[in-house]
Amino acid sequence: MPDIEDYAAVGIEIAKKAGEHVLARLNTRFSVSYKGVVNLVTEADLEAEELIVSRIRKAFPTHAILAEEKHKDTRVGEFCWIIDPLDGTTNYAHGFPVFSVSIGLEISGKVEWGVIYNPVLAELYTARRGAGAFCNGAAIHVSSVESLGASLLATGFPYDIQTSPANNLDNFCAFAQRSQGVRRCGSAALDFCAVAAGRFDGFWELKLNPWDCAAGYLMVEEAGGTVTDFHGQPPSIYAGEFIASNGLIHQQIVDVLESVVSNRKS
Ligand code: IPD
Ligand code: CA
Ligand code: CA
Repeated sequence: MPDIEDYAAVGIEIAKKAGEHVLARLNTRFSVSYKGVVNLVTEADLEAEELIVSRIRKAFPTHAILAEEKHKDTRVGEFCWIIDPLDGTTNYAHGFPVFSVSIGLEISGKVEWGVIYNPVLAELYTARRGAGAFCNGAAIHVSSVESLGASLLATGFPYDIQTSPANNLDNFCAFAQRSQGVRRCGSAALDFCAVAAGRFDGFWELKLNPWDCAAGYLMVEEAGGTVTDFHGQPPSIYAGEFIASNGLIHQQIVDVLESVVSNRKS
């Protein structure tokens, strides 16, 4: 009977392999198609997903898969692998080297293990529930910045930014004026990792998909941070709304998001 170490070994092996594959393809010719006006998918996304899914299916044929592009099992099982084969596709399609591979393993409805690989920096992030978060094998921890005014934050914008009023722009303005800076790097998985590693002090985003956040939110929790929804309540990877922080500035982030909501109503 395999255990979590066996799952982790396969997850790490294939995250690295997929990451190396997309990196090798970066400056080659690949086709790009559109899932929406600004929502791209490249051949590299699809190839990485095939690599990951075929390896996991071979190793664990009874496990379910929820992957961004093509493989979404409808069966509900004890184990579900949640896969973003290439997080940061817009960057990738433009040759901007900020992207990652993200794989989370949900066991009985809870994310218990995750890996995020940044092939450009050769940084492999792993987290196991209750056992910490690591980058290339070394333990990582969130920052100790105590005030929003001294913080560096990250966010992202949803693909329906051109048509939906819930586009995060008012939140962005509010935080830009209350922090040392807000970065929009283009890979939510790497934003979570940067909070976990103490590079960013906080990150918020709405309309995330489970594959954007499954591994990342565990990474932050296991690095000693706090992860909630926009009201400070426990998050769900299926609800899309996340604040991930070092814990110390968490309530200050919640307060700003709530003040933006009140301003919208007044
Ligand atoms: C996107 C990235 C981006 C975030 C978007 C995601 P994709 O994922 O994580 O940073 O702002 O919400 O959809 O499409 O590159 O896998
Ligand atoms: Ca993604
Ligand atoms: Ca993706």
